[in-house]
Amino acid sequence: MTMRPKIELHLHLEGAAPPKLIQRMAAEQGVRLDGVFDADGSYKYNDFTGFLNVYEAATQVLRTPEDFGRLTYAVLQQSAAQGVIYTEAFLSPDFCGGRDLGAWRDYLAAIQEAAASVPDIHMRGIVTCIRHFGPEAAQEVAECAAATAGDFITGFGMGGNEAVGTQGDFARAFARAKAAGLHLTTHAGEFGGPESVRSALDDLGVTRIGHGVRAIEDDALVDRLAAEGIVLEVCPGSNVALGLFERIEDHPIDRLHARGVPITVSTDDPPFFHTTMGGEYAALTKAFGWRSETWLDINRTAARAAFCDDATRNDLL
Ligand code: ADE
Ligand code: ZN
Repeated sequence: MTMRPKIELHLHLEGAAPPKLIQRMAAEQGVRLDGVFDADGSYKYNDFTGFLNVYEAATQVLRTPEDFGRLTYAVLQQSAAQGVIYTEAFLSPDFCGGRDLGAWRDYLAAIQEAAASVPDIHMRGIVTCIRHFGPEAAQEVAECAAATAGDFITGFGMGGNEAVGTQGDFARAFARAKAAGLHLTTHAGEFGGPESVRSALDDLGVTRIGHGVRAIEDDALVDRLAAEGIVLEVCPGSNVALGLFERIEDHPIDRLHARGVPITVSTDDPPFFHTTMGGEYAALTKAFGWRSETWLDINRTAARAAFCDDATRNDLL
């Protein structure tokens, strides 16, 4: 059977870094990355904050625009090998020149050039602020996003620790991005509960939610997501790896889908969670008995929700 073409809407560029690439860059720079890798060379952490710390430690060796070009090339090759034909990557000016606009333009040019050199996959960038870096930093990230909005940078989002502050603290940054014509998404309902998802809709005006799976705890919210067509970027393997659900069979994705919530499937940070798009598809098919129609529905939802122009969208549909 030929591989099913896949659309991925939720992928953190640094979070997709192959451990070997990070190790090679560390060796080239003479940098020691203590506590980042297991004996077998995979990323090492115990819980969500540990994950965020290791993530940020590993990104230390991603220093120059050229480093980000190499990273982009490796990540997109990895995705294309999984049959991904279109991907949206979260890009962080925090890690690309410390939120300085001039530097950000240089990193972005390197990322975009690398993306154009990988065959059989199209990429768009969602500029991402990091919640635990605070609203002031997010404002600077939003300025970087607004200044580079266009055919490649099509969205603005927020990741990071959902336990720090509220979605509403970032309303000004999201309003700035929206005024620049960017589409909006935020991580919500991952470690935060249903109220975080509601606040993402009411206070930030997002049309998609990163994760959103804890909406399942609130029936009225599930109904609202379905009625308003709010698309969830669901990352089941990530949720299981970070301990939200014990097993894939316990994951609410199937119940959300059955209740009419538009869902899509992504990997989040694949090497951190020992997953791939092919692995997610196989695990969900096995756990829930999903057939071709379900996968077609999910990919159509992803194409409709993609932050891209209509010509690109029509090619995906
Ligand atoms: N950054 C990278 N992966 C993340 C996740 N799963 N949640 C929040 N922020 C992230
Ligand atoms: Zn994420």
